[in-house]
Amino acid sequence: MTTTTETYGVDPSPTPLALLLLGREADPASERGVECPGDLPAASDPDLVARARAAKEQLGDRVFILGHHYQRDEVIEFADVTGDSFKLARDAAARPEAEYIVFCGVHFMAESADILTTDAQQVVLPDLAAGCSMADMATAEQVAECWDALTDAGIADVTVPVSYMNSSADIKAFTGKHGGTICTSSNAKRALEWAFEQGQKVLFLPDQHLGRNTAVLEMGFSLEDCVLYNPHKPNGGLTAEQLRNAKMILWRGHCSVHGRFSLDSVNEVRERIPGVTVLVHPECKHEVVTAADMVGSTEYIIKALDAAEPGSKWAIGTELNLVRRLAKAHPDKEVVFLDRAVCFCSTMNRIDLPHLVWALESLVEGRVPNVITVDPETEKYAKAALDRMLALP
Ligand code: 13P
Ligand code: SF4
Repeated sequence: MTTTTETYGVDPSPTPLALLLLGREADPASERGVECPGDLPAASDPDLVARARAAKEQLGDRVFILGHHYQRDEVIEFADVTGDSFKLARDAAARPEAEYIVFCGVHFMAESADILTTDAQQVVLPDLAAGCSMADMATAEQVAECWDALTDAGIADVTVPVSYMNSSADIKAFTGKHGGTICTSSNAKRALEWAFEQGQKVLFLPDQHLGRNTAVLEMGFSLEDCVLYNPHKPNGGLTAEQLRNAKMILWRGHCSVHGRFSLDSVNEVRERIPGVTVLVHPECKHEVVTAADMVGSTEYIIKALDAAEPGSKWAIGTELNLVRRLAKAHPDKEVVFLDRAVCFCSTMNRIDLPHLVWALESLVEGRVPNVITVDPETEKYAKAALDRMLALP
């Protein structure tokens, strides 16, 4: 494999994303799917903060609000805990006394919370259209076809699936059924080490960049050990021989936010801010991660900034809500966003204060809105894969 953007850059024609009116329209073909019923308070309502506070107070310990690091400030303000997807999954599991888990994040995270919480608890996603374009890039049918291709090539029984947390419950269930594990950006290396103890090859879903960056930069594999499986082409666009020769079979998926950072943005910021440390998320393209000084998950990025010397200069390649908060939290350091052209994660941003108020007030009134439920069969296998991740050393 050559190291060109052409080969492993952002897919120019990923699954098309419909533009939905905030919380009011439906795209049933998508993981982020369905409509948000009910009347939302107006965004201009000056009492929104007071209403959220009052509803939260009335619900007390019955509700537990989780906030992903990429959420808006107005939502994070009401979170009982904040974290990356791994930490939030664990936090949800550790709160069996809360009747309602309000998940301020995206759909796959709420599904994971439902899988890891008790049957007596209900997980609420304030806007059902808050999905993830990356999770949408791997459907159950496509992954089943891929497994057939691996079976035809004679390698399915030596291949272990490793799926990024950023995937639907169906994909997690596929992973569990085939003896694989889930990983997050903070434990991908450990998950891959475990997988290579179980088998000879890994099918890594759905983020090609996290898979490639971890295999090549942290595990000593070469780019030639990796092949890219394109679900939109017969046999993934690969010959049986290419599949047999590969160590890492990477699914052609990517994050539409992190995938936009470019090598130019790294070069430009180094010129603009001499002495800057470039710190990026492993969902960024390989050439961006290779050109950066440091790479790590959102929790890693937060800790790196906490430990940084006053006066140090940082360019951060991850979602904008988090980078803005980091800049505010560290006025003694220079913290800039890596690329001026990259913006917020639009689906994360769908959870805004009106949706949160609507969800909390509905709970106060005795209605449980937007419940995320994973069916028992899917849950059984998805939980097996998640439990394997939670048990990783
Ligand atoms: P983490 O929360 O694992 O850092 O993943 C980043 C992300 O893209 C979440 O959607
Ligand atoms: Fe999905 Fe990327 Fe948004 Fe995370 S930041 S929810 S991976 S699109």
